[in-house]
Amino acid sequence: MDTSVVDSRKAESRELVAAAPYLIEQDWAAYTPEQHAIWTELVTRRMPQLREHACSAYLEGFEQIGLQEDRLPVLKKVSERLQPRTGWNSTAVSGFLPADAFFEMLAARKFPTTTWIRSRDAMEYTPEPDIFHDVFGHVPMHAHPVFADFLEQYGKVCAGLKSAEALEQMGRLFWFTVEFGVIHEAGKIKVYGSGLISSHGECTHVVERGAGLEIREFDVDQVLNTVVDVSKMQPVLYAIESFEQIYEAAKEAESRVG
Ligand SMILES: [Fe+2]
Repeated sequence: MDTSVVDSRKAESRELVAAAPYLIEQDWAAYTPEQHAIWTELVTRRMPQLREHACSAYLEGFEQIGLQEDRLPVLKKVSERLQPRTGWNSTAVSGFLPADAFFEMLAARKFPTTTWIRSRDAMEYTPEPDIFHDVFGHVPMHAHPVFADFLEQYGKVCAGLKSAEALEQMGRLFWFTVEFGVIHEAGKIKVYGSGLISSHGECTHVVERGAGLEIREFDVDQVLNTVVDVSKMQPVLYAIESFEQIYEAAKEAESRVG
């Protein structure tokens, strides 16, 4: 490991306490041609639907952070393009983070990003997030200034919460926005949540208005009190009018949970 890597890790460790043990370096050179090919297949399979049904903030963010179809992303290069726009970084981590580490990173505008990629026999779904879910699904939205502010605010609110009930309610806000969020845009419903962006099946369920799906107008109290079953296609989603709405919701939620 060269000294610049050690220095950058020290700088990150100074800022991040709970998350420090989970920070890793992305070993981009270690990805195999097969892993790059899996990325390419995942991206090329999703883009036709997303060009039609993803919100403009996602599609613009995709271009702005310089994602490419033919190779796995270099997180440091993504961050170099993202940082000047919104102050966000895509920061490599070893896997799932404990809640305090996760919220600490969001509050510091560092998105915990996994570096592994799924295998060919799990193209549609992985129980744990991989680099496709994290970078293709989440990171383009971090180039949008208001979404960027919302996500930091969300991390700050959660970092200050102690009660399990309050954190569960805030988890629902994350679920119905960051993961499964939809937005009204030019008279249509467009997707912005990573769970919809990165999953063909989940997204198709929304754009084709699958059986049993209800799209309600976003209401922070309803969202905080809607129990989520992660094992099923989502029966209810909440559509926002603008990203300002979820920024305000994250602020308001602080006084409504627990
Ligand atoms: Fe996610």
